Amino acid sequence: MAFQFNFVSSMLILLLLSISSAKGQGGGGGGVIDVVAKFGAKADEKTDLSKPLLDAWKEACASTSPAKIVIPKGIYFLSTATLDGPCKAPIELQVEGTVKAPADPGAFKEPKWIAFNRIENFKLFGGGVFDGQGTTAYKREGCEKHDYCDSLPINLRFDFLTNTMVQGITSKDSKQFHVNVLGCKNITFEHFTVSAPGESPNTDGIHIGRSDGVNVLNTDIKTGDDCVSIGDGSKNLVINGVTCGPGHGISIGSLGLFKNEEPVDGVIVKNCTLTNTSNGVRIKSWPGAEPGSCSNIHFEDITVTNVSSPIIIDQKYCPWNKCKINEESKVKLSNISFKNIHGTSALPEAVKIICSATLPCENVELADIEIMLSGPAGPAVSQCSNVKPKVSGKQNPVACSAPIGAKPTLAA
Ligand SMILES: *[C@@H]1O[C@H](CO)[C@@H](O)[C@H](O)[C@H]1NC(C)=O
Ligand SMILES: *[C@@H]1O[C@H](CO)[C@@H](O)[C@H](O)[C@H]1NC(C)=O
Ligand SMILES: *[C@@H]1O[C@H](CO)[C@@H](O)[C@H](O)[C@H]1NC(C)=O
Ligand SMILES: *[C@@H]1O[C@H](CO)[C@@H](O)[C@H](O)[C@H]1NC(C)=O
Ligand SMILES: *[C@@H]1O[C@H](CO)[C@@H](O)[C@H](O)[C@H]1NC(C)=O
Repeated sequence: MAFQFNFVSSMLILLLLSISSAKGQGGGGGGVIDVVAKFGAKADEKTDLSKPLLDAWKEACASTSPAKIVIPKGIYFLSTATLDGPCKAPIELQVEGTVKAPADPGAFKEPKWIAFNRIENFKLFGGGVFDGQGTTAYKREGCEKHDYCDSLPINLRFDFLTNTMVQGITSKDSKQFHVNVLGCKNITFEHFTVSAPGESPNTDGIHIGRSDGVNVLNTDIKTGDDCVSIGDGSKNLVINGVTCGPGHGISIGSLGLFKNEEPVDGVIVKNCTLTNTSNGVRIKSWPGAEPGSCSNIHFEDITVTNVSSPIIIDQKYCPWNKCKINEESKVKLSNISFKNIHGTSALPEAVKIICSATLPCENVELADIEIMLSGPAGPAVSQCSNVKPKVSGKQNPVACSAPIGAKPTLAA
């Protein structure tokens, strides 16, 4: 048989090959798995997506070739789901739709809604929205004692993931933290969006702890607590291009409350914009309590607009009267720089660097600080305690020029 293997037929074969592999017939069971087409998920806002999603995950995770799960456009209801690894090959979850949580906080047995656990080479993307329907939870009292608030579900948990990308995803109205990153290595959030009211309690945007190599890039966060919060054991973080507000700013800590906290080492916060937030860039630790360390932290190219405390190191952090107020913090702070930070402050104390008397801050640098008070109430001031910062470039207010009242901070 004379088969002419010409250009057109070779293109046809390539096309057929790519279609068959996209359908998962290329061997190993990989390919694209549509939760609606294959597992009967319904975009009707009431049928639980949990089983179809877990079934799709089971198949994708067992595949020896890369697999992708798709949640198409539409509005879905999801009670809860934990997607466990390890998986046999790289795995992707493309969310195009909006996925809604139960509105009732009582519907959750554990403080999580969706969790990704022990996965390597994972990608979550697709422009979709995870809506925690938190409005009912925000009205309830009890966050001062923390037990009620801490039992509320976190929208998205990323636990012990390696080489993970989260791209173009929105977390809306979480009942507690929007995102919790724990024990991860090399995880990037890019074009991520967090959206919740300024009055929503304990709704940190992205909380990072015990992780190495976390990047938060070009991300927009509007919420009722810290936009990004960084807990103990965080290493090699880059926060770049984050816009924050409303919210409580970008915070390291609080540190030194619990036993056996691991050091925070290596954080770069760069090119970020904070508007109407209660803090700008902050490091906080508890008086008394437990030892710890926080070093090699660099805040650079930050714009603040009407921020209550734009630059703050607070080693007398003591909300809910939970500390030994007359003791000093045992968390050692060193190698910390604030460079090119400019804009307006809503309160006079634009720069406040309150360090521990028993462990003074070491190697703190202030370079090119220009912050004006936004209201008519007089000039902005700069206060320092137990620190001798290295100062360079413009300094407005003049570095460490104002006296301080050594009052502990009672507000969260
Ligand atoms: C980090 O993870 C990304 C995937 O998000 C991957 O492309 C990259 O190679 C990983 N980097 C290292 C050093 O493994
Ligand atoms: C700075 O942040 C903005 C987002 O606010 C982003 O678009 C831009 O790419 C970032 N610039 C650099 C140099 O990273
Ligand atoms: C800041 O807050 C003021 C007063 O609540 C409001 O008018 C303004 O729109 C806010 N700015 C931004 C950028 O959210
Ligand atoms: C500045 O923030 C304060 C509260 O933090 C708010 O009351 C005030 O309206 C804001 N002003 C502007 C101009 O946004
Ligand atoms: C602080 O920086 C200096 C100089 O770069 C370095 O030698 C030292 O190890 C750093 N300290 C800590 C605790 O990382």
